Formats: sequence, C-alpha cells, structure tokens
Amino acid sequence: MQISSNYSKFARFLTLGMRLIFHKKELRSSLSSHEDAPGMLGLVPTMGALHEGHLSLVRQALSENSRVVVSIFVNPTQFNNPEDLKKYPKTLEADLSLLESVSNEIIVFAPATSELYSEDISSKNYFFNGLDKVMEGAFREGHFNGVATIVEMLLDLVRPNRAYFGEKDFQQLQIVKNLANELSFNVKIVGCPIVREPHGLAMSSRNQQLSNPMRQRAGIIYETLLTAKQMFGTKSATKIAAYVTGVFAKETDLELEYFQIADVETLTPVKTKQNNIKYRGFIAVYAEGIRLIDNIAMN
Ligand code: PAF
Repeated sequence: MQISSNYSKFARFLTLGMRLIFHKKELRSSLSSHEDAPGMLGLVPTMGALHEGHLSLVRQALSENSRVVVSIFVNPTQFNNPEDLKKYPKTLEADLSLLESVSNEIIVFAPATSELYSEDISSKNYFFNGLDKVMEGAFREGHFNGVATIVEMLLDLVRPNRAYFGEKDFQQLQIVKNLANELSFNVKIVGCPIVREPHGLAMSSRNQQLSNPMRQRAGIIYETLLTAKQMFGTKSATKIAAYVTGVFAKETDLELEYFQIADVETLTPVKTKQNNIKYRGFIAVYAEGIRLIDNIAMN
C-alpha cells in the first residue's frame, strides 16, 4: 500500500500494490492514469467498520474487475439521528488490515468529511419514484437523500463500471439502481447476498454495538423471517404480519419497528399476492437501542 498522505499512523499498512488515498484529486489522477487500460473498474462504497459482509462484496468486485476501489466514509447526511452518527464505529486501521487480508491491490479511498462536503454538510433532494416512501424511508426521514448524495458523489468521482451493494439494505439497493438510471451513470449496480453471523443475524457494522448474548438472541429476527417465508405459500400477508408481531410481543428486549411484505421492484406493500410478482419480507427491530434490519425473498 502506498501512503498518499503524510498520515504516518498508517505506515504499517505499507505493502506493494495497495493504495490508501485521502483526497479526491489524488484519487482522480490515480484512476485516470489507468483510464485507457483494458479491464473493468469496480467500486465498493462502505462506511467502514468492515465485516465479512463487506469483504464478500470486495471479493466479488475483485473477481469481476481488474481494479477495485473501496471507499470508507461515514456519511453524516444519511444519519437522521445525531446520536446514531456519534456512536457509529470508526475503525480505519482494523478496516485496512481486513482489506489487506483479502488483497493488497485494492485502492482504498478514505476522505475526511470536509473533502467531500466542504462547508455545506447537507444532502440534495432526489425523486425516487416512491421507493423512499416506505419502510426505511418512512422511519428515517431524509436518510435516502443522504445516501443518494454520497453515492452520486462517489459514482461521479470514481466512474466505475460496476458498483457493489449488499442486499441487507435491499431498499437502498433499489434506490441506488434508480438513482444510477435517472442520472444516466454508465454503471452496473450489483446486489450481493446477505452474509449472516452463526446464529443468523444479518452482518452489520452495528452488530458490534450489541452485547454478546444479544448478538446471539437477535438470531430470532432471521428465524422469524424464515417462518414468514414458509407461511407465504398458504397464508395471507395480514396473517403473516400478525404472526411476526406476535413473536416480538413476547420478546421484551426486542422491539419490532416494522414488518412488511413488499413487491421487490416497486417496494409497494403487498395487498393481494400475484403470481408474476416477486416479494420480499422486510423487518426492522431495536435491540439494546440498536436498530437492526433484515429481509428475505418470500417467493
Ligand atoms: O450501505 C452503506 O454502508 C452506506 O449507506 C453507503 C452505501 C456506503 C453510503 O454511505
């Protein structure tokens, strides 16, 4: 890894090939020096606190592209709750070690907030064709405008052929596809399967804020989704929602925020099931004050 700045703290990550870049200009010049080279460029946008879920995106990106940029940036404009932003883990050194364990040819872009937002730390307003009106969008006001603001900046800066997003944030994935399409970015948005902890909890940077016992107990979220999926063949969406509500009513330390079965393309909640439509079940649960989300294909 070549250090692109005088951050000597990261000197121990020096190895051949990998680059750590803090500034936009330097990223652009590093990428443009290869612009005529054959092969694809992949982007994996992250907010750091990396885990196996992120690494699976990075591995897929490495297998499909000749160069891969991983961005590490805790984007302030997508946090609707300032406490959540404050608590969000920042672990750049550990993240670099993990990335290096996967490949030393990754370009890591880890800008400061001022590098991307200058003085005005606010999001732009986007129109997402209604994809933002339900679930995460309904419970986290402004969240998707914040996500879109940073994703647009990164797509514009990196100009990747492919960009990789995890299906744990399925609504985000659909919104990013919509954004890339509306803004005519020449990029393929690739959705990657959810990676789970041994007890079934979907991997998330937030999981490290849970106590160990809760991290195991929270596996019940996935168990409930699996049962909901089984029920989907024979039971109505209302019955399934009642079942899920019943499960969490008994769990005093897990608070259900929403469970929703929705059309995967439009994200509109199912009314009457239709055979030609693909549905997913989406859930958000609070555990020890930490918000956990998950989803599953129903058919
Ligand atoms: O999924 C995330 O970690 C973030 O929402 C993203 C896409 C990196 C934008 O900040």
